[in-house]
Amino acid sequence: MAVREIVLFPDPILKTVCEPVDPADPATQQLVQDLIDTVAASPGVGLAAPQIGVAKRAFVVDVRPKPGAGLLVLLNPEIVSASGPKTGREGCLSIPDFTAKVRRPQEIVIRGLNPDGHSVVIHSSDFEAVCIQHEMDHLDGILFLDRVASLKRDVFRRKGFEPRFDAREYPRIVGEENS
Ligand code: NI
Repeated sequence: MAVREIVLFPDPILKTVCEPVDPADPATQQLVQDLIDTVAASPGVGLAAPQIGVAKRAFVVDVRPKPGAGLLVLLNPEIVSASGPKTGREGCLSIPDFTAKVRRPQEIVIRGLNPDGHSVVIHSSDFEAVCIQHEMDHLDGILFLDRVASLKRDVFRRKGFEPRFDAREYPRIVGEENS
């Protein structure tokens, strides 16, 4: 069991397109366990590998506090279909400074590998579907602030948290980190 340190924005790994993982690699099983342990010890409901410093395509979503939902770990995930866009509030363990209004599909079908290496197809909706898409975005170096319609109107300071940067400066900060 290992609770890993969560990487914070603007660490460049958060803007990296991650590599596929091999479930047969023992390092992948360690990564999966670390993701599960770290999200359990955090105030969040999902975590992607780059957020613990590993640029690999793996994530965990744990929405167990919500009725009827469970723990999902997926490797090399892909969206099969998505529909029903709706706007909701999101946050991110790597950007604890803000929450924001983000518009996303509420019904998705995804496929990928479970930690045993078996192919799975998952139908998900509502809160869990939003969490899954947020984590899948991390695997492509996309952060929730990339998805807001307006950095001025749709981003909110997290209560009791002094932001480390001005949300309107986000594009400039990302540009600098990538250059
Ligand atoms: Ni996040």
